[in-house]
Amino acid sequence: MAHEMTEGDGITMSASVIRGMGVCLPQGVVTNDDLVDRFQTSDTWIRTRTGIHRRRWVEPGTSTGDLATVAGAAALTSAGTDADFVLLATTTPDRPCPATAPEVASRIGLTDVPAVDVSAVCSGFVYGLALASSLISSGVCTRPLLIGAEVYTSIIDPLDRGTGVIFGDGAGAVLLERGDEAEPGAVHAFALGSDGSNSDLIAIAAGGSRAPHRDVSASREDRYFRMQGRSVYTQAIQRMTSSCRSVLSRTGWSSDAVEVFVSHQANQRIVDAVGDRLGIDTSHRFGNIAEVGNTAAASLPLAMADTAGREGVVPGARTLLTAFGGGLTWGSVALNWPDVKPIHHLHR
Ligand code: COA
Repeated sequence: MAHEMTEGDGITMSASVIRGMGVCLPQGVVTNDDLVDRFQTSDTWIRTRTGIHRRRWVEPGTSTGDLATVAGAAALTSAGTDADFVLLATTTPDRPCPATAPEVASRIGLTDVPAVDVSAVCSGFVYGLALASSLISSGVCTRPLLIGAEVYTSIIDPLDRGTGVIFGDGAGAVLLERGDEAEPGAVHAFALGSDGSNSDLIAIAAGGSRAPHRDVSASREDRYFRMQGRSVYTQAIQRMTSSCRSVLSRTGWSSDAVEVFVSHQANQRIVDAVGDRLGIDTSHRFGNIAEVGNTAAASLPLAMADTAGREGVVPGARTLLTAFGGGLTWGSVALNWPDVKPIHHLHR
């Protein structure tokens, strides 16, 4: 935030403000019952351990860029403006090289704008919000488009029931612009962190410079996304809770003052534990994990779009977002609930 003179005599604080929101989900719904044979699991196990009832998976051939393009364009329509920077948070880029964001920008019709991917796994959207806000305050751009998009089905092991029941595909996007800190959608503060000593808890071991395809014939174990569920569970609760506390202390809000709490939709038990530890009343907690599962970097914008218009979710409401993911990475952000009408699309 920066001090700025207004046209009158008063001084206002400028802030990045969310002006538009768009989401894109694959049309294909996969219920828990659909997964019983493949993973030797049950609807009851998945519901009670994760809170997930169904998720949406793309058809083969649909990429992260495909979903991101639709969500990004929808956010621009929702905002009624174009963008001059594109950030794409994703774990599942269309290719290892180059980044997916430039192609998405081009497909949206944003010719020659700067565009880059953000790699922070499930925390990518919160990291992206911090970067987008910084780009505005530093004068690098005026209207960044931030997209969180994933095709997790491209990296999960079709035989691993520990991850196969949890993750879903999807994309969500927001358009930010410089505005006033008192406005709906104004972003107030961030608390971000990482712990690379635990990088192995969520990882794809092979295919990078550490174990290039050239040198290794990767085992099945190393080719796919792996997650040490128990350790991740504990870390996610601790890290999201502490970063929420940090960001609340920076804004001076008590947890009682939070009117809208949206967590990364990791697992309903994790979300509940974080909300309980913070003391946020259940009537102020929102999410959609039952319908879409864990969609990693797309999770927060998808949950936000789903939350818009629900009872008590009014423009300006004090809002707390939090996320945790591989890296390890985590982050929280305090903002005013935006005055936007999200645009929803299904991808065939
Ligand atoms: N269906 C049925 N049983 C399953 C199963 C499934 N889909 N997945 C695991 N199990 C079994 C295991 O084989 C194990 O059986 P055993 O005791 O006979 O060996 C048992 O359930 C417990 O396995 P465990 O991996 O310890 O389960 P858990 O209680 O930790 O739950 C997760 C697994 C993945 C749901 C849980 O660890 C979790 O939610 N972790 C965090 C995930 C997350 O949010 N990741 C994203 C962070 S960004």
